Amino acid sequence: MTDQYAVFGNPINHSKSPAIHRQFAEQTGQDLHYAKHLVAEDEFVKTAQAFFAEGGKGLNVTVPFKIEAFHFAQELTPRAQCAGAVNTLALQADGKILGDNTDGIGMVHDMHNLGWELQGKRILILGAGGAVRGIIQPVLAEQPAQVVIANRTVSKAEELAAHFHDLGDVQARSFERLAGESFDVVINGTSASLGGDLPPLPKGLLNPNASCYDLMYGAEPTVFLKWAAEQGAVKLADGLGMLIGQAAEAFYLWRQIRPEVIPVITALRRQLAEKK
Ligand code: ATR
Repeated sequence: MTDQYAVFGNPINHSKSPAIHRQFAEQTGQDLHYAKHLVAEDEFVKTAQAFFAEGGKGLNVTVPFKIEAFHFAQELTPRAQCAGAVNTLALQADGKILGDNTDGIGMVHDMHNLGWELQGKRILILGAGGAVRGIIQPVLAEQPAQVVIANRTVSKAEELAAHFHDLGDVQARSFERLAGESFDVVINGTSASLGGDLPPLPKGLLNPNASCYDLMYGAEPTVFLKWAAEQGAVKLADGLGMLIGQAAEAFYLWRQIRPEVIPVITALRRQLAEKK
């Protein structure tokens, strides 16, 4: 039987994961089937158990189930352990289900593909929610000079800074306290842009040649990327490459083969533009 994979989420209708994994499978000549499932809010565990009991080999997990998936996994990769959330589940040879988090490494690989360096850089991360938690350890693994987490609710930034303290220099700030500081890389991980909002950011935050990355993506530049361009940044990227990068890492975990991400990014970017 063809190996079965799926993504579980709620909502799930607009998920691009089936299209991405279909392209990876074609590219690498892998025989697999990848479906999307709308899972009721209180039925994640039941549905995941049934999926694996019926011979499923691996799942991607998206909003709102990443924390439930973390508890569902029987073993965790170190990066999933660090993130406290799981976006990929894989059935292993011994029958146990491994939980991984490929979001952060997907973003870091995308930055590498863009030719951006994180080593030795001062990095500002906006937001302290679930999305940010998943990227901090992979960012720190690149050995930046310092990571500053700024959040509307400062206590959440402080909690994250304390949690990741052992892995590098991580500081917390309010948005106001950023005044007078400057950064080489700014990553927007707030969900503010969903509503077209931008955190209140002081002027002068960007060093010359700074890079700005939004975890969100869309057909148009996000409000954050528009702000970055107004502030003079020329190295700008949205989260489409991260979406495809996290999928590529999941594919690698499942199939032990690395797909090419660039053609898939190009194809999805073209589709986004056509739908405008
Ligand atoms: P996600 O899974 O997308 O990270 P989340 O865990 O709900 O979602 O986190 C949302 C993040 O966006 C938080 O950092 C939130 O700030 P608070 O912790 O203060 O709530 C941030 N956020 C959402 N709307 C915002 C806005 N209008 N301005 C600034 N920050 C905002």
